[in-house]
Amino acid sequence: MVLQQLETMNNPKIALIGLGYVGLPLAAAFANEYKVVGFDIYTKRISELNSGLDYTNELSTEQLKEVIGTSLTLTTSLEDIANCNIFIVTVPTPVTSSKSPDLTPVIKASESVASILKKGDTVVYESTVYPGVTEEVCVPILEEKSGLKYNYDFFVGYSPERINPGDKKHTITKITKVVSGSTPETLRFLSELYGSIIEAGIYEAPTIKTAEAAKVIENTQRDINIAFVNELSIIFSKMGIDTNEVLKAAGTKWNFLNFFPGLVGGHCIGVDPYYLAYKSQELGYTPEMILAGRRINDHMPTFIVNQIVKHLLSQNKNIKDAPALILGATFKENCPDLRNSKVFDVFQELKEFGFKTHIFDPEADSETFIKEYGFQKLSVLSKSHYDVVILAVSHDCFREVNPKELIKEDGVVFDVKGFYKDTDFLYL
Ligand SMILES: NC(=O)c1ccc[n+]([C@@H]2O[C@H](COP(=O)([O-])OP(=O)(O)OC[C@H]3O[C@@H](n4cnc5c(N)ncnc54)[C@H](O)[C@@H]3O)[C@@H](O)[C@H]2O)c1
Repeated sequence: MVLQQLETMNNPKIALIGLGYVGLPLAAAFANEYKVVGFDIYTKRISELNSGLDYTNELSTEQLKEVIGTSLTLTTSLEDIANCNIFIVTVPTPVTSSKSPDLTPVIKASESVASILKKGDTVVYESTVYPGVTEEVCVPILEEKSGLKYNYDFFVGYSPERINPGDKKHTITKITKVVSGSTPETLRFLSELYGSIIEAGIYEAPTIKTAEAAKVIENTQRDINIAFVNELSIIFSKMGIDTNEVLKAAGTKWNFLNFFPGLVGGHCIGVDPYYLAYKSQELGYTPEMILAGRRINDHMPTFIVNQIVKHLLSQNKNIKDAPALILGATFKENCPDLRNSKVFDVFQELKEFGFKTHIFDPEADSETFIKEYGFQKLSVLSKSHYDVVILAVSHDCFREVNPKELIKEDGVVFDVKGFYKDTDFLYL
């Protein structure tokens, strides 16, 4: 059997399953060295990519043209990846409305791969999961649907993805890649395979569960650290102390960690802690700190709007029908992704108080915006029009915007991100 795996090592034919923020850049990186087929169930995504458009903005039209049609082919048909021998799964791992892991995409992708799996093949999972998903959920599906035997006929690996959408510095090949395998030979093979495209180097994790756990704690740690500074901002606002000034002063100590208050949304930091918490609870331990972090961060939209309302009421301003503007709608800066953005919660809170709210975000995907909000985002900004302007996302393009020009004479600017550093503004 190791012989068949050796053949794969000498002639890797790679299939990427799921061409989103993670799968597409990885497919393109592998396509610089190997023949790659990208598979996605979303027909529109494939036709857009074939026409040179990546809605995630991770790859430019030029970058797409360099690989598509030469070393990278794209398909919605499983038949087109049937002769591949390495299957890398990069599908979403969301949570349900009750914040439990929704493994449906991972399960469906495993079923698809199982239907074409052959002796000697290797399946690698990159989606963020809780420790145990690869071996306890995916491998049984691969075995059952293919009729093949795990670690005898086929092999499995887990290699978490660490890219940061919108970040053009820490791109896929420049981030150390953690790799794990179901056998020592698989680990060696995957280490070599990824090592051939990752400039930053490979870290070999001793087990698949270790690699799964490492990824989920990276994002959980970030969530907890941000929750801590968010909690500080709630406490210090009661004391009339500027949190950002406190953090600046404390940051002069060599081992003080630099985190800043803000909204935590998206489908990684705001979601992954629930995966770890779910598994922990299944094993009988309810995590205190992890879930407290989630609660604090989820409370921030309410806190921000309450601060604004208190301020306006203290100025004897009428809130009903007051025009409000939010700058930024996406879940993070310089990224078009609106999924699970906490700006939506800020908008809802403002609506409940009766504000008439507009949103301006040149980076946000227009089609998804209308689906989420039911109205169009602003394309032009009106001057001296708003009672409140909220800077919610620090897109680089907002450097060109002067919020003071947008508010009425007695209006207020709430700078959630501490972006403008103007002493007249309100901050977290
Ligand atoms: N986006 C990030 O910043 C980031 C960073 C690191 C890790 N991750 C993790 O990587 C995984 C993928 O995230 P993403 O942001 O790339 O997701 P995404 O939603 O951008 O893309 C996923 C793609 O998978 C496709 N897909 C869904 N089900 C499929 C199936 N059964 N078969 C084939 N294709 C299918 C979708 O159509 C979509 O194009 C998630 O687990 C995420 O947590 C994401």
